[in-house]
Amino acid sequence: MMNERIAQYKAAVETRLNRFFLYSDDNPLKGYGEAVRYSLLAGGKRIRAMLVLEFCRISGGDPDSAMDIAASVEMLHAYSLIHGDLPCMDNDNLRRGKPTNHIVFGEGIATLAGDVLQAEAFRTILHSGLPASSRLRCAELLADAVGLEGMCGGQYLDLRGEGTVLSSEQLDAINLRKTAALLSASCAMGVAAAGGSAAQEEAAGSFGRDLGLAFQIRDDVLDVISSESELGKPIGSDAKENKNTYMALLGEKGCERLIDTLTARALSAIHEAFSNTAFLDEFANQMAIRRY
Ligand code: IPE
Ligand code: IPE
Ligand code: MG
Repeated sequence: MMNERIAQYKAAVETRLNRFFLYSDDNPLKGYGEAVRYSLLAGGKRIRAMLVLEFCRISGGDPDSAMDIAASVEMLHAYSLIHGDLPCMDNDNLRRGKPTNHIVFGEGIATLAGDVLQAEAFRTILHSGLPASSRLRCAELLADAVGLEGMCGGQYLDLRGEGTVLSSEQLDAINLRKTAALLSASCAMGVAAAGGSAAQEEAAGSFGRDLGLAFQIRDDVLDVISSESELGKPIGSDAKENKNTYMALLGEKGCERLIDTLTARALSAIHEAFSNTAFLDEFANQMAIRRY
């Protein structure tokens, strides 16, 4: 059941994303569009998009109506990966099994590819066919999640923390912002797209926050125990950049325990507010032990 729905959601999001940034041969922006599409359509698990669609569904909406919202969170996410991989940030040369954007197109165009994906994410929300109240709420949720208090702030703290030893509280503060905020917003945006209640939005946000923390801890574990071919990005990247991670703080077993605790807490947040969480139960437990 879960894998079938995952495949459906993923295919639908890919189809929608594939419509963006397409230019004809005589358009001077064609090369820009190609650089954006190189990263946007390079694969990726599409977890954030799936969360939008599934929360829309369990809030009583039609997932198809939220497809632009799902596309928008993947645009925003792709921007964060392109900029995060730049030499001045994490300096990584492989992403989603392909050379990173700046390796192929150069740092200037990679920077611009990220810039436009951020802007187009908001434009896509605001031009979607949803009622104005849903569009406004989705834009608000995304803006709150990715600005100074959210993802950008988290990337700042992550960068500034390189080479210093941080406490688990400080690490939580980073992970909440750099990763959990966007996952949390994706869940809440699904509810907002369906016009769900404030209580449902709140529950979805809590779920996404804990799932997001667990997700980043698993990312840090995989950076040590996985392989480049399985992960599609370099391993050992955190150690190379002297990053603070839970893996360094707690080790693999400690991380697994923490991921289990966070996953259980994530799920308990939605069991009351929603009646049909079977997919998310399975999905969250799968994320906890993912291999890539
Ligand atoms: C990678 O996110 C960056 C983190 C926040 C850990 P994903 O693991 O969701 O990356 P893709 O989209 O599947 O490539
Ligand atoms: C990614 O964090 C967070 C953002 C890009 C906002 P990481 O730097 O830990 O993720 P990977 O390992 O590069 O995918
Ligand atoms: Mg990185």
